[in-house]
Amino acid sequence: MKNIEEYYAPWVKGIPMYISSHIEKAWRDPSLHRMMSNENPNPPSNKVFEAMQKYAKMANRYPDQGLVVRTKIAEINGVDGPQNVMIGNGSSEVFDNIFRMFIVPGDEVIQHTPCFGIYGLRGKLLGATMVSVPMVYKDKNLLFDPDAILNAITEKTKIIAIANPNNPTGNFMAAEHFVRIAETGIPFVIDEAYVEYAGLGMSQVELTKKYKNVLVTRTLSKAYGLAGMRFGYTIGPKEVIDQISGSLLPWNVGTIPMWAALAAFEDTEGLAERVKFNNEQVDFITESLSIIPGFVVFPSKANYILMDCGATGKTGKEVLAFAETRGIILRGESAKYGSDGWFRVTIGTREENQLFVDTILEFFGMEK
Ligand SMILES: Cc1ncc(COP(=O)(O)O)c(C=O)c1O
Repeated sequence: MKNIEEYYAPWVKGIPMYISSHIEKAWRDPSLHRMMSNENPNPPSNKVFEAMQKYAKMANRYPDQGLVVRTKIAEINGVDGPQNVMIGNGSSEVFDNIFRMFIVPGDEVIQHTPCFGIYGLRGKLLGATMVSVPMVYKDKNLLFDPDAILNAITEKTKIIAIANPNNPTGNFMAAEHFVRIAETGIPFVIDEAYVEYAGLGMSQVELTKKYKNVLVTRTLSKAYGLAGMRFGYTIGPKEVIDQISGSLLPWNVGTIPMWAALAAFEDTEGLAERVKFNNEQVDFITESLSIIPGFVVFPSKANYILMDCGATGKTGKEVLAFAETRGIILRGESAKYGSDGWFRVTIGTREENQLFVDTILEFFGMEK
């Protein structure tokens, strides 16, 4: 008799359940300030809440395929219709659905690092080899390197995934480089999880009309403030959306999130308020901390800010530990570019952002 181990698909062996320890910790202790997971600090608007309640009363019924919300998404983004939109339980699930329709074991997936972890998590589960192309650290900026991305392409490249703006760096890649990558014909997924903070004018969604290989993904977890609800989507050419939708689980998006998402899209004022608040707070934190000598604050167009305190002689780990003494959870980053001073903060409430600024200034001996 063979051991159970020998029956697993070889490329999935040993892959653990994804558990985010800081999120576990924050749920266990609600008094902590959750400034680590790029959530929105503001609870859902009443309009969204009302839709949740209304459809909760119909939770005994299976959902349909979401034609109404998909039509709304198409309308907002200037594409033809629901045939250009696929929806999922957060954009993480959407990535999974896309990946499984392209990747076979041995394929390569290009990502631009540092970046969001889901591409690697889902790619590896399907047996892909992740090709990580590093961004360039220059003049206190982490820059996209489109030439290096193009140079990393091989016969085995199946997908190129780029977040715009990128997480954790918070910056956008220039539009012309998206065209260069799209021109390769390789499936190109542009992750626009945070694009609403800068406005849809920064979206690359137009490319999905011209290039059959381009998909844009989005989420309601960030600017819309609905991370716990789980709703994401992708926009693309009709025939590609048709094909990748073949990987959807039946009824993958529940009735409540589907209709609450529609309410969130209709609540344009609610979105504008959240975006305005966030962007003001990004400016507040950026300006407040830029006075620390040797401290690098990366300019962000999203709801988080990356920092590198390597040149101050302190480490990111020390900052995280000190912040925890004040009840603040930040996000650590691995050592890179010869520095171990990396960490990332997510915009919190006004009070939390003030507390964060005071804490960091105190840690660096810069109290007012
Ligand atoms: C770049 C990026 N893409 C996608 C997501 C996933 O969002 P969700 O699965 O909640 O839609 C995140 C979450 O942090 C992210 O940072």
